[in-house]
Amino acid sequence: MNLKEKCRILEFEDHGDDRGKLVVIEGDGYSEVPFDIKRVFYIYGSDESIVRGKHANTESEFVLINVAGKSKVRITDGNEEIIVDLDRPKIGVYIPRMIWKEMYCFSKDSVLLVLASTHYNSDEYIRDYDEYIEMLKHSSI
Ligand code: TYD
Repeated sequence: MNLKEKCRILEFEDHGDDRGKLVVIEGDGYSEVPFDIKRVFYIYGSDESIVRGKHANTESEFVLINVAGKSKVRITDGNEEIIVDLDRPKIGVYIPRMIWKEMYCFSKDSVLLVLASTHYNSDEYIRDYDEYIEMLKHSSI
């Protein structure tokens, strides 16, 4: 499976009418998110000059959605690289375990919503790229 297939773009259904729009996200296979959602956090107040993330996770899977504003996410598996424009509230990207990610190019109004498959555990974050590449050699993913 190539990186685009692994980190697929999710397009959520838009229940829009003349009052505005509404997007529903449910975990555990009830909507496009392929895991049960254990944690939600959002990132805002970053700007064009900031790069966030720069880590991979041994346990967590994520879905990233810019519910307001825009950002980009650079994703790599140490082999291929893709860049996803998160620029609409109905678009998300799924990031499985052991994928390196960097979020950047935040618009001033960016609110980046992140859904995660686990509760927070700092021990499962790999924050050193060389260590990540080394760990991939011993990983079956
Ligand atoms: P960090 O992982 O560095 O953010 P990013 O990936 O966006 O660059 O997290 C920033 C801080 O927030 C850090 O001190 C850890 C804390 N944090 C939690 O306490 N719980 C969480 O679920 C997350 C994602 C971060």
